[in-house]
Amino acid sequence: MEHALSGEVVKASQKSLLAVLEGERRDPPPIWMMRQAGRYLPEYRALRSEKGGFLALAQDSAMAAEITLQPIRRFGFDGAILFSDILMIPYALGQDLWFETGEGPRLAPPLATDAIASLDPQPERLEPVYETVRRVRAELPAHVTFLGFAGSPWTVATYMVAGQGSREQGEARRLAYRDPAAFSMIIDAIVTATIDYLAGQIEAGTEAVQLFDSWSGSLSPVQFEQWVIAPTARIVAGLRARHPRIPIIGFPKGAGGKLPAYARETGVDAIGLDETVDPFWADAVLPEGMPVQGNLDPLALIAGGDALAQATKHILGAFASRPHVFNLGHGILPDTDIAHVEQLLDLVRNQQPRD
Ligand code: CP3
Repeated sequence: MEHALSGEVVKASQKSLLAVLEGERRDPPPIWMMRQAGRYLPEYRALRSEKGGFLALAQDSAMAAEITLQPIRRFGFDGAILFSDILMIPYALGQDLWFETGEGPRLAPPLATDAIASLDPQPERLEPVYETVRRVRAELPAHVTFLGFAGSPWTVATYMVAGQGSREQGEARRLAYRDPAAFSMIIDAIVTATIDYLAGQIEAGTEAVQLFDSWSGSLSPVQFEQWVIAPTARIVAGLRARHPRIPIIGFPKGAGGKLPAYARETGVDAIGLDETVDPFWADAVLPEGMPVQGNLDPLALIAGGDALAQATKHILGAFASRPHVFNLGHGILPDTDIAHVEQLLDLVRNQQPRD
C-alpha cells in the first residue's frame, strides 16, 4: 500500500508502525511510548519554562512541533505522537481551560451544574493543532509513523462534568445515572467534535490515530456498553466514512474483562492494553490477527535493569505471533531515567524474546 501526501510517496512497508497497525507482523516490533513528549525530557522542560505554561506551549505550533519531534531525535522511536492534549475538545466546545501548577487541569463552567447547550463552541481553537501537524509532517523522518489522537467521549466527559480530574470519576457517573438525557447530550457533542477533530488531524498529515480512554475502568459493564463502546463505535464509523484507510487504535485503560467486547464491537483496528492486562490472556481472547499495543508497566521502566529486562521479555514472548506495537501500559512517568528508555529500546530491537 502507498500513502501519498503533498507529492511525497512513501511505501507503508518503510513505516513499520503503520504496517503493524494495518495487520502485518514485524520483528522486531515497532516501539513508541504514550506521553513520550513531556516532562522526563530536559529539552521539554527547557521549552516549557521558556513559555511558562502547558496550554501556551500546545497552542504555539512551532514549539508543539518541536516537542513532538524531540523524542524522535533523541531515541529514534517508530512513532511520533502529536503534542497536544485530550482537553482541547472541551476547550473547542467552549469551556475555559487552564492548568493549575502541581494540581492539574481545570475546566469552567463544570457541566455538573451548567448545561452543554449554554456553551459557545470555538472550533477555531483547534487551528493551531492542525498547523502543528503540518509542521511535524514536513520534518518527519521517512520511517516514522505520525499518530494523531483524541480522548474518548467518556474520559473527556469526566473532566467536562467535574471541571477537573475527579476521584473515581464520581461526578460524571452520578450525572449519567441521574440524568442520562443530559449526559447523552454531552457525549453526543464530544462525538461530533471528535470526528471533525480527528479528520482535521488526518487531513493535516497524521497517518493513524489513537483514542485515549484513560478512565474506562470505572464503569459497570452496562454503563461501559453505553458510554464507552457505543460512542467509540460512532467515532470509528464517522471517521471511516471520511478516511477509510487510516488505522484507529483504541486504548480503553482499565477495561479488563470487557476488552474482548470492546475489540469486537467498537470497530477499532488495534487495541492498546494497560499494564494490568495479562498479555497471554489478551493474546488468547482477542480476535485473531488484531494488532495489539502495549503493555509494559511504566514502573518497570523506572526500575530499569533486570526487572525491566524480565518484564519486556514476558511481553515480547506473549505477542510473538501477533502484530504487536511495543508500548507502555500507560504514560511514561516524569521521574523516568532516560538511560532506562535507551535500555528498553535495545531490549526490544536487539534481543530475541526467548533469549
Ligand atoms: O503522548 C504524548 O506525548 C502527547 C501529548 C499528550 C499530553 N496529554 C500532553 C500533556 C497526550 C497524548 C495527553 C493525553 C492526556 N491528557 C490524557 C490521556 C492519557 C493519560 O495519561 O491518561 C489525559 C487524561 C490528559 C489530561 C491531562 N493533561 C492531565 C490530567 C494533565 C495534568 C497531569 C499530567 O499528566 O501532567 C495534563 C497535562 C499534560 N498533557 C502535560 C503534558 C506533557 C503536562 C504539562 C506540564 O505540566 O508540562
